[in-house]
Amino acid sequence: ILPSQASFSPSNGRLSGEQVNRAVRRLKDLRGLFADEAAFLAMDPEQIVYEVHAHDACGPVEGGLFFGVSTLFPGKVGQEYFMTKGHIHERRNRGEYYWGIEGRGALVTMNERREATVAVIEPGSLHYVPGNTAHRIANTGNVPLVVGACWPADAGHDYDAIAERGFPVRIVEENGAPVVRNREDERD
Ligand code: 6PG
Ligand code: NI
Repeated sequence: ILPSQASFSPSNGRLSGEQVNRAVRRLKDLRGLFADEAAFLAMDPEQIVYEVHAHDACGPVEGGLFFGVSTLFPGKVGQEYFMTKGHIHERRNRGEYYWGIEGRGALVTMNERREATVAVIEPGSLHYVPGNTAHRIANTGNVPLVVGACWPADAGHDYDAIAERGFPVRIVEENGAPVVRNREDERD
């Protein structure tokens, strides 16, 4: 019987151990994603918006699985909540599970016809993102949003396809509460 080389806390999402890698995204890495460019430029570009811990021991092989925990810090650019870059998997048909661990947020998805869905993420919520579907999370609360994920190791990330036109909806604060707003420039 061998000791476990990594550990995961289902209560707070802490993922650690030998085969766990940490990636950090700062505000400067999210340029162009938020509607309010002036508000974006007035903020500290070095501030950390989110980090991802991933257990990716098998490498990007077909049939393998990766397990990760994303921690998205609370904050807004103008009225728009902090969010991840968002991506569609490079291997388009690869799906993914997400589940809420701590905090409160939104999972925004978009299919190939640019149809969006928005689901509340909260502790215990479970979300299946099908293949051919872009996904992004936003933190709509005042504490870090901690979200678990499991996805095929060969899925990869395509950020460019999303960066071009973005998602059709934004998650913004209105009268102190999160609302879904259609993008100004979005056409059917
Ligand atoms: C994935 C997952 C997830 C995601 C992070 C950061 O496919 O790897 O969807 O781990 O990468 O939440 O989001 P971005 O990759 O969009 O920056
Ligand atoms: Ni993904």
